[in-house]
Amino acid sequence: MSSSGAALQQVRSEFLRQMADGRLERPVEQAAGLPNLCYTDADFFALEQQTVFRDNWVFAAFAHELAKVGDMLPVEIAGQPLVLVRGENGIRAFHNVCRHRGARLVESAGRHRKFVCPNHSWSYGLDGRLLMRPHYHGGERHDVNRAECHPADLRAVACETWHDWVFVNISASAKPFADAIAPITTRLDGYDLSAIGFADRLEFDLRANWKLAIENFIEPYHVFSCHPWLNDFVGMGERDPPTYDANVLLCGYEFGAPDPARGGQLPWFPDLPANKQNRGDWFVLFPNFAFEIFPDQVDVFVAWPRDVGHCRETIALYFVGDGVDAPAYADARRHVVKNWNDLNHEDIGVIERMQAGRYSEGFDGGVLSPYWDPVQQYFAGLLTAAIDGSISQN
Ligand code: FES
Ligand SMILES: [Fe+2]
Repeated sequence: MSSSGAALQQVRSEFLRQMADGRLERPVEQAAGLPNLCYTDADFFALEQQTVFRDNWVFAAFAHELAKVGDMLPVEIAGQPLVLVRGENGIRAFHNVCRHRGARLVESAGRHRKFVCPNHSWSYGLDGRLLMRPHYHGGERHDVNRAECHPADLRAVACETWHDWVFVNISASAKPFADAIAPITTRLDGYDLSAIGFADRLEFDLRANWKLAIENFIEPYHVFSCHPWLNDFVGMGERDPPTYDANVLLCGYEFGAPDPARGGQLPWFPDLPANKQNRGDWFVLFPNFAFEIFPDQVDVFVAWPRDVGHCRETIALYFVGDGVDAPAYADARRHVVKNWNDLNHEDIGVIERMQAGRYSEGFDGGVLSPYWDPVQQYFAGLLTAAIDGSISQN
């Protein structure tokens, strides 16, 4: 991040000035979403990284990428190099930097018994504790007694694992993780998430700000226009508008009968209650982690910020029981994967067009639908609160 402190202050003031026009308070049809600078200004992107992405629980990796003790994975969140590592007691996160002269410790994913810095071979345990400093007191005079020396353990970052999903909170200012995800977990009653397994992963690079991907994910208003075939599955008349609860955006629907991509061909969650057997639900954990759940699958969707005009989307697909890898279900899995791939390409087209539109002086945040778009106004409010005083949202 190259933005200076003064530039961040300036863009913050300008953003808050624009948000103070009442757009967050007016009735939705007279309101507006976020102004253009949120999607086009590099300083705003830097500000957002330093607030939104430091102060909240932010998705960092999939736990299955760290399957065995000693597995290490470097990641970058909010511009900060971090390393995730599986120790004896689960996955932890550290700032990915040696305490001595600041070399980045881990360059690529791998499995090791300890961290060893390549520069002067200081070593750290998987729990981040300094183990040994060769020649620290002079030639052949090693530091091997941590009780006697100035401590230099790796700096830990708050980290929580929920099923296959690892989150970090760099500033450690977010509410407890269980509280942050409570609006989701209370609605997942009846789904035995221990029955799911990771099956496949799709990646997409978008010429669009990450927020447009999330805003698109949660709203079904575009379905009849962008995914007409999906409209045959559940028509617009049967769709409810998105809602929200604290730091979570919500949407869902009931369908008449499963289709091959949703509940029709793969095993279902065991003992699924009747009221979940014909449902699909979607969630966004602010800021950028989302997923959908159906009787036979969980589909995680992450919009990773890259720069102000680019993001990367990851879709991870999970199936239930035998559905994960049994050969008998190979065609069914392929069908689901193709469905998400096709669907997402249809979305990318409009998401990139919305990004292009954010460079227009003729757009100032939009004219919103009172039925479908309250969630857009709410999302704008979450982002504003996160930037205004770096208030933690989750
Ligand atoms: S910089 Fe890591 S051991 Fe010196
Ligand atoms: Fe869509």
